[in-house]
Amino acid sequence: MKIIVTGGAGFIGGNFVHHMVKKYPEDEILNLDLLTYAGNLETLKPIEDRPNYRFVRGDIADREFVFALFEKEKPDMVVNFAAESHVDRSITDPEVFVRTNVMGTTTLLDACRTYGISRYHQVSTDEVYGDLPLDRPDLFFTEETPLHTSSPYSSSKASADLFVLAYHRTYGLPVTVSRCSNNYGPYHFPEKLIPLMISRALADEPLPVYGDGANVRDWLHVSDHCEAIDLILHKGRVGEIYNIGGHNERTNLEVVKTILRALDKPESLIRFVKDRPGHDRRYAIDPTKIETELGWKPKYNFDTGIRQTIDWYLNNEDWWKHIISGEYTGYFEKMYGERLA
Ligand SMILES: NC(=O)c1ccc[n+]([C@@H]2O[C@H](COP(=O)([O-])OP(=O)(O)OC[C@H]3O[C@@H](n4cnc5c(N)ncnc54)[C@H](O)[C@@H]3O)[C@@H](O)[C@H]2O)c1
Repeated sequence: MKIIVTGGAGFIGGNFVHHMVKKYPEDEILNLDLLTYAGNLETLKPIEDRPNYRFVRGDIADREFVFALFEKEKPDMVVNFAAESHVDRSITDPEVFVRTNVMGTTTLLDACRTYGISRYHQVSTDEVYGDLPLDRPDLFFTEETPLHTSSPYSSSKASADLFVLAYHRTYGLPVTVSRCSNNYGPYHFPEKLIPLMISRALADEPLPVYGDGANVRDWLHVSDHCEAIDLILHKGRVGEIYNIGGHNERTNLEVVKTILRALDKPESLIRFVKDRPGHDRRYAIDPTKIETELGWKPKYNFDTGIRQTIDWYLNNEDWWKHIISGEYTGYFEKMYGERLA
């Protein structure tokens, strides 16, 4: 089985490549990534010499490139993680979100349609459902919850999902879609909440918290997300959407305080800052479908997962300090520059 994983130099895609390369030595994993600011090949260092792993640099929205790659590689499956993923960036520059998240997806779908595929999997997000009120803890997102997006990011992801499902209905393309809650864990880019707070707390720098910190997110350890996608690829029903979440709701303020306690740092480091425009209040996933149909169960709860994550950041300072210093961008040249010349 040859599997193209797009966005495999990013946070979740990188963890997924690790998972697949180790678990399925007989499968070939081809990591296709443009290496934007969010792509970091140092994440793949521990597995880059495995015989069943390869990296190719390219843009999923570049039709000529994608078709030439499919012509050459004839993949059996595609798992699409590649995306612009940061909500704040989508507010300042929405256009690149349309290009990568929507046009990149339709380009991949067209290539799958042209060359044939046994599965196309779209990695989506619970943000396509919008948000839930803070005073209704009884409400959860199910796969039937209407799409109701808030940001340019979630709108681009919802559009992509609709194209994926339309390609199943119209052309019979064997697709699946997963919508996951917020992830945390190793190799998370330090602009996102949890790694940002860990790295700043370690440096005794102020921790910026949006608004009053009451916004609620449903946190899932990235390895539980990877297991879920693996299950959907191998056992999921074609044409279906699966929500993924582990019932680990926490306010942003609770998350920050947990990190400060674990690192033995004072709460006086917390600074409340002006809220993000249109900030979603609460996300909460109902994972009944994937649990009952595919037998998925998360291995981590928030308390065990955050401890493991903090330990990982303490033991892998080089990885995240290279990002903060910008050194990580030189890794591609160092590893592949000569080979490409
Ligand atoms: N992070 C979360 O909590 C979360 C939760 C649910 C769903 N998701 C979804 O999971 C996927 C991965 O998220 P992430 O947090 O790992 O993102 P990320 O920003 O860490 O990684 C995205 C990767 O995509 C690559 N990329 C960007 N544009 C590209 C292009 N045009 N062509 C090829 N590669 C390109 C980047 O270089 C990067 O390596 C996204 O689709 C996101 O919407 C994320």
